[in-house]
Amino acid sequence: MIKKFVFGNPINTQAVVEDFEELDYSKLPEIFSFSEDYSEFKMELDPEDIIYGLGESLHGMNKRGFIYVSNNTDQVHHDENQYSLYGSHNFILIDRFEGFKLGLFVDYPAKTKWDLGFTDKDIMSVSVEEPDYKLYIVEGETALDIIKEFRRIIGKSYKAPLWGFGYGQSRWGYKCTEDVRKIVREHKRLNLPIDSVYMDIDYMQDYAVFTINDERYPEFADFVKEMEEEKIHLVPAIDPAVKRLPGYYVYDEGVEGNYFCKDESGNDFPVAVWPGLSHLPDFFKPETKKWFGDKYRFFTDLGIDGFWNDMNEPAIFYSSNSIKKTADYLATMKDKTENLTLGELWDYLDAASGLANNEEDYKSFYHEIDGKKVRHDRVHNLYALNMMQGVYENFKEIAPGKEILFFARSSYIGSHRYGGIWTGDNSSYYSHIQLILSQLPNLNMCGFLYVGADTGGFAFNTSEPLLMRFMQISLFTPLFRNHCALGTRDQEIYQFKDIDSFRGMLNLRYALIPELYKIYTDSIENNKMMFTPLALAYPGDKKCRQVGDQLMLGDDYMIAPVTEANATGRYVYVPENMKCYIMKSHDKYRTVDLPKGHHYINIAINEVAIFVKEGKVLNLCEPGLRTE
Ligand code: GLC
Repeated sequence: MIKKFVFGNPINTQAVVEDFEELDYSKLPEIFSFSEDYSEFKMELDPEDIIYGLGESLHGMNKRGFIYVSNNTDQVHHDENQYSLYGSHNFILIDRFEGFKLGLFVDYPAKTKWDLGFTDKDIMSVSVEEPDYKLYIVEGETALDIIKEFRRIIGKSYKAPLWGFGYGQSRWGYKCTEDVRKIVREHKRLNLPIDSVYMDIDYMQDYAVFTINDERYPEFADFVKEMEEEKIHLVPAIDPAVKRLPGYYVYDEGVEGNYFCKDESGNDFPVAVWPGLSHLPDFFKPETKKWFGDKYRFFTDLGIDGFWNDMNEPAIFYSSNSIKKTADYLATMKDKTENLTLGELWDYLDAASGLANNEEDYKSFYHEIDGKKVRHDRVHNLYALNMMQGVYENFKEIAPGKEILFFARSSYIGSHRYGGIWTGDNSSYYSHIQLILSQLPNLNMCGFLYVGADTGGFAFNTSEPLLMRFMQISLFTPLFRNHCALGTRDQEIYQFKDIDSFRGMLNLRYALIPELYKIYTDSIENNKMMFTPLALAYPGDKKCRQVGDQLMLGDDYMIAPVTEANATGRYVYVPENMKCYIMKSHDKYRTVDLPKGHHYINIAINEVAIFVKEGKVLNLCEPGLRTE
C-alpha cells in the first residue's frame, strides 16, 4: 500500500510513474514527528532496526549510524567521511525483526539530509532544504513486498543488451587505435574472453564532445568496422559540457538553438570541465534533450551501440566567477609568504581545493522548466536524469530496433528506466570490494539493476591479488568493466602473471552469463532484487540480520566474496542447507555440502565460492570468447 503526501509546491521529478491521490496530513504516520514547516521529520529507532536503501551511498549495507546527503557530487574519495556520491536515491526501508516494516521515498530534487542515527543513535531525522517535496510511504507485509511495490511505482528498469554482460576493458589514457587493438590482440592471444573496449575522453579532439581526434583515431569509421569484425563493441564516453569554441559545430548549434544553461542575466553560463571553458546543456528543456540526443547519431551511424555518460552531476572544475574570486583572494595573499597564521594557511589551502564543484557555482545558473526560470541548485539532482532520459528516448529514432548499452555516473530515482549506472571513481582498495557488495542490494531496491564498479579500482595502483578479488565480485554484477585512472599502473589482465587464474574467472563469468541474464531480466520484469541482503531473504532468521558481506543472487544462489587482503578463506553464515562450489573456473571446482550454520570456507586467491540452495542447480554453459 502506498500513501502519498505533498508538501509545498514540489517540482515534478518524474521519479514516480503512477498517479496517487494525495492524502491529508492527518493520515501521516504517528511515528513521525514533523517540524512546523515540514522541512524535517524524525522517527525513533528501535535498537534492532535495520535501514537499507539510499542506493549507491557509502558505508555498509545497513545504513544506520551515519549521515548521508543526497547531492549528486563528483566525488573521487569514497571514504567514510564523505556524505554524498554521484547519485541521489532517496528511498529507504526500515526493517524491524518480526515487526514493523516501512518504505519511505522522499521525492525531492535538491539536498536531502538523512541522519540515520548519527547525531542521536536512536533517532532518524530526514530534512530537506525547502519544504517542497512529496513523501511516499510504502507499506507491505514483508520487506520484499514493500520493495516490489516501490519498484512498481517508479517504473520498469532499463534492460541492457546481453553483450553488456560481457567483459569490458577500459582505462583513462588509451591514446590511440593501436592501444585498443593491443587489448583485443592480447585477449585473443591468451584466450581471454572480452566483448567491449571503452573509449575514455582521450578519443576526442581537445575533449570536445562528438568529435574524434583524427591523429589518434584516424579513419575512425573503418576502425569501428574492424572492431565489429572482431566482435568488439566500442563504448565511448560522452560528457555533457560543450567546449566554448566558436566554429566547433556542437558549440555553434548550442548557441543558435539557445540550448545552454544561463546565468542570472540570461547569458550562457561558462564552466570549466575537461575541455576547458564550456557550457552546460539545459537538459530540462525538451528541445535541448532532443538536440543533444540526436548528436549521438555521430556514433550510432557508424554502428556504435554502447555509451557511458560521465560528469553529469554536472561536475564543474571551476566557473569564471569562482576562479576569479580565488585568484583575487590569492592576490591578497601574495606578500604572505612566511609565518602564516593557521587560519590563513587553511584559507590558502581551501581556496584552490574549494574551486571544484563549488556550491556557489550551482547557485549561479538557471534552467528553463516549463517556461519558468529555475535556479540550478533547486533541481540539481535531476540534471543527470534529464540528460539520460533525453538520450535514451532518442535512441529509438537514431538507432531504431537496436538494443543500446547505456549507463551513466550520476542519477536520481527515475534514471533507472533509461540506463544503468557505474559507481564512479572508486579506489584500488580491498574495502571497495566490500563497498560494491553493500551498494548492490541498495541500488536494486531503488530500481538500478544494470550496475557495477570499476573492477580493480579506479584511483591508485592495483595489485594482482586485488584485481583477482575484485573480479570475484564483478563476475556476478551486470556491468563487468576493468577501468582505472590516468597515471595508475597498467591494469589489464595480461599485465599480470597468473593469466590461467584470470582466464578461469573470465570463463566462469561467461559460463554464468545466460543464468545471470535470466536473473537480471526476471528482476526487471517482476520488480525483484537481483541481489538481496540475507536479512530480507530470511526474515525469520535473526542471525541473517548481522550479515553485511554476503548476498543472495536471484532465488537460488548466495555469494560471499573474499574482501580482505591476504585472506585465503572466510567465515560464512549459511542460512539453509546449501552446496558450496569453490571454483577456479567453470570446469575446475570442488564442492562441499554445508548444513545451515556458520562455516569457515577455504577460498584461495584464484577461487570464488558460489552457494546453491539444496535441490537447486548451478546453471553454467560452455563459455565462449564473446557473448555472441
Ligand atoms: C571521471 C570518470 C572516470 C573517467 C575520467 C576521465 O573521473 O569517473 O571514469 O575515466 O573522468 O574521463
